[in-house]
Amino acid sequence: MKKIVLTKSGTDILKGKVVACLFYEPSSRTFSSFVSAINRVGAGAIQLLGMQSSSVAKGETLEDTIRTFGCYADVIVMRHPETESAAFAAKHSYVPIINAGDGKGEHPTQALLDAYTLHSHFPDYSKVTFAGVGDMKNGRTIHSFAKLLANLGTKKFIFVSPEVLKMPEEVVEFIKKKGGEVTEVEGLNEVIGNVDVLYATRVQKERFENEEEYEKLKNKYIITPDTMKLAKKDMILMHPLPRVGEITNEVDNDPRSVYIREQMTNGVYTRMALLKLILTK
Ligand code: CP
Repeated sequence: MKKIVLTKSGTDILKGKVVACLFYEPSSRTFSSFVSAINRVGAGAIQLLGMQSSSVAKGETLEDTIRTFGCYADVIVMRHPETESAAFAAKHSYVPIINAGDGKGEHPTQALLDAYTLHSHFPDYSKVTFAGVGDMKNGRTIHSFAKLLANLGTKKFIFVSPEVLKMPEEVVEFIKKKGGEVTEVEGLNEVIGNVDVLYATRVQKERFENEEEYEKLKNKYIITPDTMKLAKKDMILMHPLPRVGEITNEVDNDPRSVYIREQMTNGVYTRMALLKLILTK
């Protein structure tokens, strides 16, 4: 898929197929990379970024919306603010559902592109010490990525967060069942020197009920060139983006930063591959 994109050769492997992108929440990367992927593999797209122009604005339920678009598309890519909404949609759908983010639950296609990115630096997942920093509680990307890494054999996980933003017990238990070790700390500087992959996350403002609480926590971790001086020479710094200040712009040109040059472009290749897998079964 990467070759198809880089050579701009295009392919019509999914010609005649239609993908509906139903985004109930804002998105830049996931929505646009799916639309790009759909175009690159020759399929057609129904694109709704924000559902206010659909009959959802008239009160149509999620199950009726999903059944409706299942009549027009071969697969539905859905982002929704409710946790478990993708599983709920799948129960009512005539066509496969791809979860493009369900509230503070999961973001599995982000995990695929993240694993692909990590793999190009550390081909053996089992030897990686992985750390997540920031909002472990509400960050759906880190939930999915940590679980996927545990499935792929990673054993050492460090989660850095304040007590109130700790990783949900369900994710910690999942990792332990797969044979992983989990360390939870509040200070990044005390662990960063042992880490191969640092995954920074935004404090998820939209998941807070109390704005004052968000304001207190939002700048808890800010990665600067000084932070990077404490890291290994071959560590990689990842972030699903968007960021709102948790990595300063000066860090972007550090060769260990992969969030712009690698993660975002890899999102197109992995989503092309996923669509092909689902639609050519
Ligand atoms: N990483 C990610 O999900 O970004 P968007 O919210 O812009 O889609």
